[in-house]
Amino acid sequence: MNPAVELYPPDQRTPSLPPIHSVKLRVNGKVTELQIAPWTTLLDALREYMDLTGTKKGCDHGQCGACTILVNGKRINSCLTLAIMQEDTEITTIEGLAPQDGSSAGQLHPLQQAFIERDAFQCGYCTPGQICSAVGLMNEGKARTTADIRELMSGNICRCGAYTNIVDAIEDVLNQKTV
Ligand code: FES
Ligand code: FES
Repeated sequence: MNPAVELYPPDQRTPSLPPIHSVKLRVNGKVTELQIAPWTTLLDALREYMDLTGTKKGCDHGQCGACTILVNGKRINSCLTLAIMQEDTEITTIEGLAPQDGSSAGQLHPLQQAFIERDAFQCGYCTPGQICSAVGLMNEGKARTTADIRELMSGNICRCGAYTNIVDAIEDVLNQKTV
């Protein structure tokens, strides 16, 4: 070995990998403990380790909204947060929106129902993110008009152009109309 080359740290010749972390996530009311690398995004934790593949990976860069889920009732892009940052939060995915108490078997969340009734999806790829985002929009309580809905849903991209029906579905639930 060339004596002019020094190793750093001096007594360690191979780099050590960061340890695997134990992470407890509460998703759709159920706590699961995962052994994952600390850099695992919440999106990958849901899809790759918990088999909750309803949440979709589109851009993986916070630009399409396909990965939108709810954390403590607020919508976030799950590709932009690490799973280890979401311990002690209440995570809801598209799989957990319908009533989970067993008393309403087969009943969908009103927004899921409205999306079906308004035919608000085509390929359906963006749809879980659109629905979760719409739930977040309602929780925020800021949407009053159609223009508000369009503006507040603008972070969710639909490559099929189903926007008109998506807005109609959200408006139906917002106004509690019967469709
Ligand atoms: S996959 Fe997260 S915003 Fe596109
Ligand atoms: S329904 Fe296909 S991307 Fe939106």
